[in-house]
Amino acid sequence: MGQCGKKRYVQVGVGGRSSMYTKAIAGEYKEVAELVALCDINPGRMEVKNRQLQESGHPAVPMYAPDQFDRMIAETKPHTVIVTTGPDATHCDYICRAMELGCDVVTEKPMTTDDARCRKILQTVKKTGRSCQVTFNYRYSPPRSQVKELLAGGAIGEICSVDFAWLLDTRHGADYFRRWHRKLANSGSLLVHKSTHHFDLVNWWLDDVPEDVFCHAAKSYYTPATADRMGLAGRGERCLGCGAKDKCRFYLDLAGNEHLKTLYLDNEKYDGYFRDRCVFSADIDIWDTMSVSVRYRRGALLSYQLHAFSPYEGYRIAFNGTKGRLEHSACENTYINGDGTIPGELSKNKVTLTLIPEFASPQALEPRIAAGGHGGGDPILLADIFDPNAPADPLKRKAFHREGAYSCMVGVAAYKSVQSGQAVRIDNLLADAPL
Ligand SMILES: NC(=O)c1ccc[n+]([C@@H]2O[C@H](COP(=O)([O-])OP(=O)(O)OC[C@H]3O[C@@H](n4cnc5c(N)ncnc54)[C@H](O)[C@@H]3O)[C@@H](O)[C@H]2O)c1
Repeated sequence: MGQCGKKRYVQVGVGGRSSMYTKAIAGEYKEVAELVALCDINPGRMEVKNRQLQESGHPAVPMYAPDQFDRMIAETKPHTVIVTTGPDATHCDYICRAMELGCDVVTEKPMTTDDARCRKILQTVKKTGRSCQVTFNYRYSPPRSQVKELLAGGAIGEICSVDFAWLLDTRHGADYFRRWHRKLANSGSLLVHKSTHHFDLVNWWLDDVPEDVFCHAAKSYYTPATADRMGLAGRGERCLGCGAKDKCRFYLDLAGNEHLKTLYLDNEKYDGYFRDRCVFSADIDIWDTMSVSVRYRRGALLSYQLHAFSPYEGYRIAFNGTKGRLEHSACENTYINGDGTIPGELSKNKVTLTLIPEFASPQALEPRIAAGGHGGGDPILLADIFDPNAPADPLKRKAFHREGAYSCMVGVAAYKSVQSGQAVRIDNLLADAPL
């Protein structure tokens, strides 16, 4: 332990998502945790982070560029490296190097974006004996934990099939088409970047392993043709200075939001990262409409859809079991990542949970709701990461490399299925990587 027995953390990647962790370290968990360094390609964003740390009473910490990562570990001696970089494809190098240098890792989802990197992470965990925790905050959302309790308690018997649709709206969903996520090489497409959450939930709810994946996908909405239909003539590469901004429903005013301006616009000069690229650009190569079919080891079948241009944000899921059916739906508040609002809180009175036992009438159950980001999951996840006295969790929500691998490999298999037109076996992607 470090000063006064505190656990020492460094953080790599200081964009929108990073603040959930740094606020926790500087605030609620300051007696047990301390941040000892930052690493990012963008020195301006690291300066912003250091200012925020100081405003919250935490001392400023040394800042390192990516090529100084080894030096950072040697000089600051962290126990754990928190990986919150984007593009997601950058996670793997930091996860593996941190473990090789003797640190544990806490990484944002998706653990990685392709099968070669996934195998490398699994081999590095085995070789080093270090741990790689993947922060699947969606598991911790109270109604999703409640679903787990019902299914694990046998409420509908053995689960035979799952029908799952996740809807991203034209505000939050559109935002993925503005940034690095818009390139498959960066994010693994939304089938990895976003759906890793959803595939992890299903893997965990079923307590089973996905084996076989088939997928169709299309780009139906975020296209130049849609912009033309909307009469958006004179479009630019980005919102800033765009000739169509007065008519465009997708116009993002970076300068008009204090958080987005401070984090992104003011720091563009260092790395050319434009946070407001046009959602209708022809060079976007990810899909906005995806339909996936998955077969699980014990035989359950998953039918999953992801839509990225829905009029509302939320999801609907139904489990069909040998002793009945469980239906659950929720709407979430919409947001722009990094704009200073709480991301994806559950909309009150818009969460349903219905149990229909075999030969019986539907029973509307009272869903558990809590405030907080990502369906109320973020605060509970933070306790699971930072609180040394967190009680043992009967729902086993803490996830590591194995769960990280199985969830992102469903997405990787899905995009490979789109590319090949064939079903893809996850075993073939993982080869003999140690799980
Ligand atoms: N669990 C969730 O609900 C949730 C929500 C949002 C984001 N995320 C995840 O958090 C991660 C970060 O997302 P974000 O929205 O903060 O992205 P962002 O674009 O706001 O920030 C990414 C940061 O990484 C830095 N970076 C880029 N390449 C780097 C490199 N090679 N080395 C070091 N730093 C580098 C950027 O400069 C930037 O500061 C992503 O993996 C994303 O999937 C998770």
